[in-house]
Amino acid sequence: MNLKEFLDKINGIKDAAFSEIKASKDKETLEGVRVKYLGSKGLLSELSKAMLTLERQDRPEAGKTLNQTKEEITLEHKRAHQEVLKAPVSESDYIDVTLPGRRVPLGHRHLITRTSQEICHIFEKMGLTITEGPEVETDYYNFEALNFPQDHPSRDMQQTLFVGKELLLRTHTSCVQIRTMEKTPPPVWIVVPGKTYRRDDDLTHSPMFNQVEGLVVDKGITMADLKGMLAEFARQFFSQDTKIRLRPSFFPFTEPSAEVDIACVNCGGKGCRICKGSGWLEVLGCGMVNPALYKNVGYDPKTVTGFAFGIGVDRMAMLKYHLDNISRFYAGDVRYMRQFPS
Ligand code: PHE
Repeated sequence: MNLKEFLDKINGIKDAAFSEIKASKDKETLEGVRVKYLGSKGLLSELSKAMLTLERQDRPEAGKTLNQTKEEITLEHKRAHQEVLKAPVSESDYIDVTLPGRRVPLGHRHLITRTSQEICHIFEKMGLTITEGPEVETDYYNFEALNFPQDHPSRDMQQTLFVGKELLLRTHTSCVQIRTMEKTPPPVWIVVPGKTYRRDDDLTHSPMFNQVEGLVVDKGITMADLKGMLAEFARQFFSQDTKIRLRPSFFPFTEPSAEVDIACVNCGGKGCRICKGSGWLEVLGCGMVNPALYKNVGYDPKTVTGFAFGIGVDRMAMLKYHLDNISRFYAGDVRYMRQFPS
């Protein structure tokens, strides 16, 4: 081979290599091209062996051109390789479309929310409207207007959490009785769900708990209406054969006042560990609205009468679902709450 033939051959190989690189659209084809031209048994390496057939004085130029060409092809190959890597891959390259889809886990209401809503719904069906009020209250709405006199021992019934001199975390939802009557003339038929706070903490008490308050003020409302409404509530919430009883009690804002017991949901009244042998469980406080409250909100005690009640939602949930520790409601353990889907 003479020099001219050698150089022509190099050019031919270079053109072929470039056009094959250009035509390669994936890594595998490009690798084939690399082996074919740049590999140890490739065309260029064959050509460098063929250099020995050249005249001695032609060899330096031939060698130089060969090396240059090798470099150019290598560079072009690298560039093409980068391009192929950047190119968008089709989804089927990385998604196995035959795999089953991933389910998005579906949450549900917390048992307390659900119980509170169930309680409210029963009263809504009886004509009461859901109303709410603030959790941080003034001394006036939590105590004063509800007929708890300053420095009176009746305030000790509630282990209050104060957040300022006149401000506190409400100890009950009864404050909303005053807030509503202040704003609306009678008749008032409301049910008030909400969080309440007391400095209590044991198996059945948590510093934050939930109540549902009821207030009915209208013409000619009697204690029989109160008892009838609560008896019907107990039947709907627990079961049709649930019995209730009223025991005399005291609240400054109701007169007369009563505690309501339901026949033990565990033993049905025979007496067991849950009801401490009595057959009855205390579930709520109630009474006829104390006329002193009407004075505070500008109602005429001669034309209206009413009743109020306050239900502990946590206690109702524990009784209905036979739970023993209130703190589980607020521990934030999803595994526990998952047992009560809704
Ligand atoms: N507010 C009372 C409590 O939290 C319950 C109650 C409400 C009693 C309404 C009578 C009337 O203990």
